[in-house]
Amino acid sequence: MPMNSAAAQCTGVSRRSFLTQASALAAFGLSFWTGGCEGCLQQIKNRPTRRNIANLAANDPIVTTYKNAVAAMKALPSSNPISWVAQANIHFNKCPHGCWFFLPWHRAYLLYFERICRKVTGDATFALPYWNWTTSASIPSPFWGGASNPLYDSTRMVGPSDQADPSWVGASVIQNILSTPSFTLFASDKPPGGLPTHTGSGYGELEATPHNNIHGWIGGDMGAFHSPLDPIFWMHHNMLDCLWVDWNINLNNANTNDTSWTNYNLTDFVDENGSPVSVPVIDTVLYPILLYQFEPCAPAETNKGALTGSQLQKFLREGAPSALTFGPPHAASGPVVAEGNKPVKVSIPMDAPTLQNVLGSDAHNRLVLTLDGVDLPASAEVFVRVFLDKSDASAETSIDDPHYAGSFGVFSDPQAMAGMAGDHLPKFLVDLTSTLQKLNRAGGVPTDRVDLALIAVPYNHRRSPEQHEQVIKIQSVVLGSARF
Ligand code: C2O
Repeated sequence: MPMNSAAAQCTGVSRRSFLTQASALAAFGLSFWTGGCEGCLQQIKNRPTRRNIANLAANDPIVTTYKNAVAAMKALPSSNPISWVAQANIHFNKCPHGCWFFLPWHRAYLLYFERICRKVTGDATFALPYWNWTTSASIPSPFWGGASNPLYDSTRMVGPSDQADPSWVGASVIQNILSTPSFTLFASDKPPGGLPTHTGSGYGELEATPHNNIHGWIGGDMGAFHSPLDPIFWMHHNMLDCLWVDWNINLNNANTNDTSWTNYNLTDFVDENGSPVSVPVIDTVLYPILLYQFEPCAPAETNKGALTGSQLQKFLREGAPSALTFGPPHAASGPVVAEGNKPVKVSIPMDAPTLQNVLGSDAHNRLVLTLDGVDLPASAEVFVRVFLDKSDASAETSIDDPHYAGSFGVFSDPQAMAGMAGDHLPKFLVDLTSTLQKLNRAGGVPTDRVDLALIAVPYNHRRSPEQHEQVIKIQSVVLGSARF
């Protein structure tokens, strides 16, 4: 069933004609909220809530349905498109990462997966729960217990009491990521040619930091592109989806209105009957307004309730030209090599006007660090922390230190990062603006250069010592002002 059939009934407009154009979306919002279709409004108001799994008892019907759904899908032959293996293969073959199709692609993937869960269990009201790693840093208990539990995955490299590091999932880090008003910096970059690429042309912070690091840290299936074989995958991505909702809807930041994004048709998924579907990206923006809602997941979020009619109209009308335009690049002198636990210092010459520009009050001016050609060890067991203007930074420096600017991580399977065809090495974007502004308020920053410290930190101390001696080579480190 098309996602918006209820809405289409309300307006008498076909899905095709109104959901592919931003202008038509505005019209849809207007006619929808003034047109009086009580049944539809009711249906939207009562849309299912995706809940935080930490708030559910082990025998909660939501957990039971999820378990039963996974067991039922695992029992299907892989030739069946709604089987567990076939679903994971979609990801293995197609998932766009490190580009701005990352969020909508995974959102649609989850929606159809949720419908398959309903179908195979007969639980028509099931809503996928999420794993809030900010407030519960260990993999939730329903996912442990050995091979008899369909939610268990024996390939994980972490145990039930291991905790995700606060530098990827902690409240202050997530809040900082949510504070980036640029779609590109939040949701990853426009890929070359405007088409989804399988790997890494420009990781934004949500993808590079909590997303990649959770994959790499859990390891095993989760560390590779077959990650949906681990049932925790879907809970992890549902949390990311919730944070996108918070950034986009609650915090009122605009997605890009680039038509290569809004009008792109996602065609990799099948519905609950195993039939292929085609979803324009702009539809996925409406999913959390029309089809499901979330229990609050962001650190500073309170339950805002449903959008009012005028808020929805505003939301539908907006969408901004949010591609980043970079000023002249300021580059470090050569490739940078980060060895496990040893900080490397990089000093980048800068000019005062550029710095003044990003220290000013116009939030559209950002200072962006671009780390390009990130060459990883054969099996990556480290992530990278970035500090600004802190010459004595070490792996022990607290991430609550005001000089902490962010971190990025990778899948532990290097194949998943380096491009299946070996075409290019990944690129990461780190927004340094808020850290720079904080330091400036606290007493000023040098105006002729920006000093960075990069530290490769091992994922977890349980793993063998040789895995900690890892080298990451970064071909180019470039700093620039960017405007969106
Ligand atoms: Cu497409 Cu988290 O993976």
